Amino acid sequence: MYGLINKAVHDLVVSKFGEDKWTEIARKAGVTDPNFVSMAKYPDEVTYKLVGAASEVLGAPPAAILEAFGEYWTVYSAEAGFGHLLDFAGNNLVDFLRNLDNMHTRVQLTFPELEPPSFKVSEVTDKSLRLHYYSKRPGLAPVAMGMIKGLGKRFNTPVSISLDRGRDNGHDHDEFIVLYGEGARAVA
Ligand code: HEM
Repeated sequence: MYGLINKAVHDLVVSKFGEDKWTEIARKAGVTDPNFVSMAKYPDEVTYKLVGAASEVLGAPPAAILEAFGEYWTVYSAEAGFGHLLDFAGNNLVDFLRNLDNMHTRVQLTFPELEPPSFKVSEVTDKSLRLHYYSKRPGLAPVAMGMIKGLGKRFNTPVSISLDRGRDNGHDHDEFIVLYGEGARAVA
């Protein structure tokens, strides 16, 4: 994945737990040069190892780390110079989710070798929708879930998200049920 992602992991850890914890995590992950370059491609393994090491050092399950990262990303990416792309993708949750693939296509202009996931929306009502998440990478459903929560904050919409079925059960992609607005308040 592009260095921008690893930089965001770094910034999340440092802002919440301090530089010392980051040094420990980077060492445990076997990262020799933690000064990630946003535009450079790194093996996915680097990111997975950072998450594994963060889980050990911080004593939290990997899924919790991934979800926290996802939520952080919706703010971080805006501040890292991509706010206009987020703005163009829509001003409400449903439009935004429908435009995610177009948004990553625009991101590809900056990161030509981007290997983005793909999202599809179905079964939309005024309270809920089904979100389909296709990825060539394993295990990142919690990242997507954290991002949707972050988007709920961005649009000031209460959101609740659950995995309905997924790759862990032999399905070819993950499917989330997203409740929003009044739908999410009803289960809170
Ligand atoms: C403008 C803001 C955004 C930028 C610049 C961006 C960029 C990226 C980059 C660089 C990657 C790593 C893939 C690679 O390096 O090949 C990625 C992955 C990903 N992005 Fe985005 N992204 C943005 C917004 C979003 C949003 C709002 C979502 C919400 C669902 C999202 C969902 C994901 C997911 C789930 C992945 C994990 C990779 C995978 O599943 O294979 N992104 N994105």
